[in-house]
Amino acid sequence: MRGTEAGAVQVSLLLDEIALATTRLAEAGVESPRAEAELLAAHVHGVKRTELHRVADADFDTRFWESVSRRAAREPLQHITGWAYFRYLELEVGPGVFVPRPETEVMTGWAIDRLRAMDVAEPVVVDLGTGSGAIALAIAQEVPRARVHAVEADPIARTWTERNVKRVAAAAPYTAGRVTVHGGDFADALPELDGQVDLVVTNPPYIPVGATVPPEVGEYDPPAALWSGADGLDAIRVVERVARRLLRPGGLLAVEHGAPQGAAVYWVFPEEAGWRDTRNHKDLARRDRFVTAAWPGEHPDA
Ligand SMILES: C[S@@+](CC[C@H](N)C(=O)[O-])C[C@H]1O[C@@H](n2cnc3c(N)ncnc32)[C@H](O)[C@@H]1O
Repeated sequence: MRGTEAGAVQVSLLLDEIALATTRLAEAGVESPRAEAELLAAHVHGVKRTELHRVADADFDTRFWESVSRRAAREPLQHITGWAYFRYLELEVGPGVFVPRPETEVMTGWAIDRLRAMDVAEPVVVDLGTGSGAIALAIAQEVPRARVHAVEADPIARTWTERNVKRVAAAAPYTAGRVTVHGGDFADALPELDGQVDLVVTNPPYIPVGATVPPEVGEYDPPAALWSGADGLDAIRVVERVARRLLRPGGLLAVEHGAPQGAAVYWVFPEEAGWRDTRNHKDLARRDRFVTAAWPGEHPDA
């Protein structure tokens, strides 16, 4: 706080600028303008969000306003800072890779809980369409005995996966060698693991072609991460075929989808096709967000 006269409290220059930036971001249509203005200020000044009031007026960095202009032009916050937070991970992100979303953390948590409960020494996990590696790396970090195979077709996205795999291995050495990145289309990925995988997890592209999306998505997330045919379900139908090939008896599947797609995705995994225990799950906003299912049978070693 700066000096006060007659008891009036005057905030620091930076907090004044954050208030102005909040208005600018709100006018630009940014959903959480105050939080994002604070996060940008914290990034530019190299402090935690809770320490912004400690930045001296003399240390105010005008690059704050450059970052606010970029955000007002609807560039994603994570592209400006270069970081995305996902469960307990800090991931590098930028042009050419999908920014991991909080809703995917819920599905990943479901997968982690199931893997921890599995009576399997080293569960084998496949993440189809890994992007930044968010799901695969969270599983490796939180289920240290898991062996994770991360599949990604896009070579640019894969450079971000590799970078994050290295970062996480440096910070959590027990993950080193536990995440293997594979290039190529997931439609025919990993034939050597057919019938042996304990859990398949995926956040595939699922937006119907032609749907309207915010600029942060349409202009910055890679098209291959978004669009998936007229009803948005093309990739999920491929996932159904791949998962039935990869899963061992009693193996589990988790598939993220768009909020309006819960019923449609449920019917991609019907009992008639062999699937068991197909269920819809909600995200933190109570919207339908992912479907889980089991491949029939018991683990062969049970
Ligand atoms: C929605 S993003 C999800 C990325 C990451 N799993 C996450 O949750 O943040 C989907 C990813 O799948 C990849 N992808 C799409 N179709 C694919 C395919 N047929 N084979 C392999 N990867 C694919 C995209 O390039 C993109 O990185």
